[in-house]
Amino acid sequence: MRVLVLGAAAGGGFPQWNAASEACRRARAGDPAARPATQCSIAATVDGERWLLVNASPDLRQQIEANPPLHPKVAPRSSPIAAVVLTNADVDAIAGLLHLREGTPFVLYAGERTLAVLDRNPIFEVVDRGIVPRRKLPLEVWLEPEDADGRSLGLRLRAFPVPGKPPLWLEGEIGEALVTDAEEGDVLGLEIVAGRKRLVWLANCARITPALRERIRGCDLLFLDGTLWRDDEMILAGAGSKTGRRMGHVSMAGPEGAMAAVADLPVGRRLFIHINNTNPALLADSAERAELERRGFEVAADGMEIEL
Ligand code: MLT
Ligand code: MN
Repeated sequence: MRVLVLGAAAGGGFPQWNAASEACRRARAGDPAARPATQCSIAATVDGERWLLVNASPDLRQQIEANPPLHPKVAPRSSPIAAVVLTNADVDAIAGLLHLREGTPFVLYAGERTLAVLDRNPIFEVVDRGIVPRRKLPLEVWLEPEDADGRSLGLRLRAFPVPGKPPLWLEGEIGEALVTDAEEGDVLGLEIVAGRKRLVWLANCARITPALRERIRGCDLLFLDGTLWRDDEMILAGAGSKTGRRMGHVSMAGPEGAMAAVADLPVGRRLFIHINNTNPALLADSAERAELERRGFEVAADGMEIEL
């Protein structure tokens, strides 16, 4: 399996349009230790020709152009993107679907809750259901993703519920009843298997539970929620009023952080992804990045390619 990191940043990207932080300023100035990053997504392939996209980032058009394997090869219209799987309905996971209009077939997979969100937002009808079938991802069931011709991509995929919350833009209608770490299927994790290699996708995750530790154990490649270094980071940066917990994101550091939760597990490579622009670990010359690497973790970067 070949895996491409299309985007390593959390919602907003790096630099973010309205952020004038030191880190964003460095990214804009071309500082090599502050490399710009687009919003979170990866692509995976077995045959090198047909790709499964994990999430459709608002930056998808730019990501396709930046990654030659995703360029169309057959005139007049075609795409190596054969299937797309959505793991939640946040803007940074679904807005890129709007880039995939124009009538080229692929198969869209998502959990029941995310499909319901697409159903109630008619702008997504621009991705014609007659050409792009929407398939419900069952939970805890292995399936073989297919292209629109019904040919298997040669991968196996299993989705599972992860502690998290409904999308930010639906919080208003949920009000006081909002739970930020429920495991009800608003946020999914994925296992993707090709041959004997297994990838685990946990890019949005409020808490690492004992069950998730068992899921992670022994995988070859782990993508882990790297939104924040510490829970109160956005507040300290003056960039927002919410903690990571409130936003449905486990932090990297601290006794309850993601590093502490998975450090002892046998895993091939551990990459943080969905990194917020306030997270100091985004900066290659930060003390936080050095600590993370010392503990056996990596930070994903746009354009990173991994062969499993
Ligand atoms: C998140 O991951 O918390 C969301 O992307 C927030 C947002 O939609 O801005
Ligand atoms: Mn996000």
